[in-house]
Amino acid sequence: MNLLEKAARLRAKKGQSPVSALTAYDYTTARLLDECGLDLILVGDSLGMVVLGFPDTTHVTMEHMLHHTAAVARGAKQALILGDLPIHSYPDPKTALHNSRRLIEAGAQAVKLEGGLEQEAKVRTIVEAGIPVIGHLGMLPQSVKEEGGYKKKGKNQDETQALLIGALALQEAGASAIVLESVLPKAALLLSKSLEIPTIGIGCGEESCDGEIAVITDVIGSYPWFIPPFATPRADVAGEIEKAVQAYLHALKR
Ligand code: KIV
Repeated sequence: MNLLEKAARLRAKKGQSPVSALTAYDYTTARLLDECGLDLILVGDSLGMVVLGFPDTTHVTMEHMLHHTAAVARGAKQALILGDLPIHSYPDPKTALHNSRRLIEAGAQAVKLEGGLEQEAKVRTIVEAGIPVIGHLGMLPQSVKEEGGYKKKGKNQDETQALLIGALALQEAGASAIVLESVLPKAALLLSKSLEIPTIGIGCGEESCDGEIAVITDVIGSYPWFIPPFATPRADVAGEIEKAVQAYLHALKR
């Protein structure tokens, strides 16, 4: 199945069954997730925090994204592989298309960028070149410094209206789906109902979106130093690593 067919398959899930999505940054995790039958694997720029040890996503470069996208693409054969365009990689339509093509060459099958109305022309340019785009609205991690922290969105009518205008602009420009991050459930539900394309929620509450995305380290409990309040760890991989290493050290002490 080629990238356009995979994007069409994702869009067709709207109103049928929930979109399932997780992040991955390496071959092994991507292969394991793919074998579980996920719809979408995001090589997210959360890479900056949970793999590269930066304080936020504003340190992630195209070179980081290309390296990790290629590793994920070697591991995942079935899911749609979505590559994040990192900060400063899409200042204008021409540069956005150039960097989208680089992610596709590395193995991504769609690209994601943050923002609404202001990104309309960039999304249209990338989509017209045959590359599926997924939008990202609500709390935008690449703007954390300007925003002064991670804040919930859709708290009042003006914020909700701005989100709706942005979402409709992305849809009109040809986006295949939109990630909604930290949008209050009522506003997220309104967006989901107003759009023909799927919304994929993170930190938006239950059943307000057409699907869910989560950061893999939050789900498996492998990054214990920060767990977002909305995350539900379903394993304690950090604890298991510690136990295994202690057992290894113990065995060495003859
Ligand atoms: O980079 C990332 O992991 C993301 C998710 C939070 C959706 O964009």
